[in-house]
Amino acid sequence: MTEPPMTVSLITGAADGIGWAMARRFAGGGHRVVLADIDHDKAAARAAALNGGTDGSAGGGHIAVAADVAKEADVVAMVAAVTDRWGRLDVLVNNAGIGDSHLPTLDQGVEAFDRLLRIHLTGGFLAAREAGRIMVRQGCGAIVNVSSIAGLGGLPRRNAYGAAKAGIVAMTRSLACEWADCGIRVNAIAPGYVGTDLVQRLEQAGRIDMDRLKRRIPMGRLGRPEEIAEAAWFLASPQAGYITGSVLSVDGGWHAFADAGDAWSEAGPLASVDPQRR
Ligand SMILES: NC(=O)c1ccc[n+]([C@@H]2O[C@H](COP(=O)([O-])OP(=O)(O)OC[C@H]3O[C@@H](n4cnc5c(N)ncnc54)[C@H](O)[C@@H]3O)[C@@H](O)[C@H]2O)c1
Repeated sequence: MTEPPMTVSLITGAADGIGWAMARRFAGGGHRVVLADIDHDKAAARAAALNGGTDGSAGGGHIAVAADVAKEADVVAMVAAVTDRWGRLDVLVNNAGIGDSHLPTLDQGVEAFDRLLRIHLTGGFLAAREAGRIMVRQGCGAIVNVSSIAGLGGLPRRNAYGAAKAGIVAMTRSLACEWADCGIRVNAIAPGYVGTDLVQRLEQAGRIDMDRLKRRIPMGRLGRPEEIAEAAWFLASPQAGYITGSVLSVDGGWHAFADAGDAWSEAGPLASVDPQRR
């Protein structure tokens, strides 16, 4: 019997939150997963957990790579580590990221602004460029970039975050067009608020009001990391073979909602059908 072809996926920011959920989903789907993160110890522990098979991972062989995606040398070494180990790269997920300061614009410094753009936007560019070198040679590959609702609409005080996430959308489209005839698909996900440490830290710091947030989401709840991972899995899969340059909202209806006032209340969805008809 011939072995099924091996599929290798590189996920940045895979030690926690959405990236970790993606690592579990891709490993569970039979991919060899390379977990890249600035926090190498945590990424190594995650890779070990996947290799232990407790998450339904098939075959093991998952590895961790230390990388700060804001540093070009780290990104070049990160992708080289993948090809040294597996000789190929099928999927890149540009997920690594940090939150914005939420300071009023008049108090925002240029260093924090630059750092955020460097991680989200330059990091995504560098990883796509390095992965692209291999995927062009292979004649196939899929790249999934993680944008945000902040890249599609204005969130006050999140200048750098919004600019980076909107830049990711633009770069997704330009790469998709450039590489479409090389067999490489490039897409983005625009998650809404997702229950991860990043959001928990914002809530603890008093930067977001969870009740207010939920009222703005037609589905009335935050997303789960697994729900974002499922969307990435689909976009990376052959089932999405004719999809490139697209931005998939995974946000409980956030981006679709443009009415006045709240989108949801504890008492029930505001714009919904009469309770007697349910
Ligand atoms: N959580 C949300 O509500 C939400 C919504 C929309 C988009 N996003 C985006 O999803 C992605 C993941 O967010 P999350 O909520 O899982 O965050 P998280 O803080 O839970 O996890 C982020 C991971 O990225 C790693 N990381 C941070 N900086 C890095 C760097 N310079 N190089 C390499 N790794 C780095 C961290 O160590 C961590 O493991 C980010 O791009 C974020 O902007 C998140």
